Amino acid sequence: MTIKERVFSGMQPTGSLHLGNYLGAMLQWIELQKTHECIYCVVDLHAITVWQEPAELRRSIRQVTAAYIAAGLDPEKSILFNQSQVSAHAELAWIFNCVARLGWLGRMTQFKEKAGKDREKASVGLYAYPNLMAADILAYKATHVPVGDDQKQHLELSRDIAQKFNNDYREQIESIGYTDGIFFPQPEPVITGPATRVMSLRDGTKKMSKSDPSDLSRINLTDDKDTIAKKVQKAKTDPEPLPSEPDGLKGRPEAENLVGIYAALVGDPVTKVLTDVGGAQFSSFKKTLAEAAVERLAPLTSEAARMMQDPAGIDRILADGSERARELAAPIMAEVKEIVGFIHY
Ligand code: TYM
Repeated sequence: MTIKERVFSGMQPTGSLHLGNYLGAMLQWIELQKTHECIYCVVDLHAITVWQEPAELRRSIRQVTAAYIAAGLDPEKSILFNQSQVSAHAELAWIFNCVARLGWLGRMTQFKEKAGKDREKASVGLYAYPNLMAADILAYKATHVPVGDDQKQHLELSRDIAQKFNNDYREQIESIGYTDGIFFPQPEPVITGPATRVMSLRDGTKKMSKSDPSDLSRINLTDDKDTIAKKVQKAKTDPEPLPSEPDGLKGRPEAENLVGIYAALVGDPVTKVLTDVGGAQFSSFKKTLAEAAVERLAPLTSEAARMMQDPAGIDRILADGSERARELAAPIMAEVKEIVGFIHY
């Protein structure tokens, strides 16, 4: 049986999206929709693995949806929906809770980081988080998953789960017509953006993140021009001028990050950027960087803000996407239930 190429990816609606989400993931999503069948999900079930204020969560779901569309995602061409509306995600996640091993999850670095020192107080959902992520992808038998570098380990786990399910249930899988024994494909990570790991503006060794307590550490997709300029101005740097070759960025994480962000924003390779700006002081480079960020993000921010004036319009897009996603997942879930040995009708 040939496996059809299908793209799936998701983003958590926890606070507003930032430049890392945009450069690391969204740009690839938009690119892939030109060539592939794509399913993009606002992962609200994942969001509640840490406490979310309900009204704020609802707003963030719409905000993230608006940002996707403003950035160029076409909800008619691709499927855009929120995870909790398609029950297949939670159902398959439960089955995967019974396939994945405790030891596998114990190795996940994101859990260790998010749970912090007091692991006993972390939610069970936070621990099982990667199983739900595997379910997101495999409920559609998606083959390609565009993400930033930080999701690599989770995707390896999704591959392990797919393989273990295929092995554990090989006989049943073959008996329903999958003669090669492959029910779930091994999803491929697509980590190819212009900036797959955007770092904090305050510390070039930490990734830019929604959960960083300092808002100065990230450029949000909701920031206005002045805020963007201020954040770039305050970004941490070192005292040396910019190098004219990539080798000169070694051991200078903040310089490397700012140059990488600029290169991604203007769509040039780092080598070209350094040929142009080599020898300059950060004060002048930061002005150029702030202008590039504003030019790129301002239209997106204002379009998303315009869409947020019509929440019912956003909800209609999500409802339509959910309906289409349910249709794709239903036959796959029916087979999963058959394979596992559930009675279903
Ligand atoms: P999330 O919501 O943390 O991030 C969404 C996407 O943005 C990427 N990203 C970054 N890329 C570059 N630099 C950064 N600093 C940066 N920060 C975030 C992430 O890699 C991601 O691609 N677990 C996922 C959501 C998810 C998912 C899925 C993804 C749930 N189910 C199924 C793919 C497939 C997450 O928390 O992403």
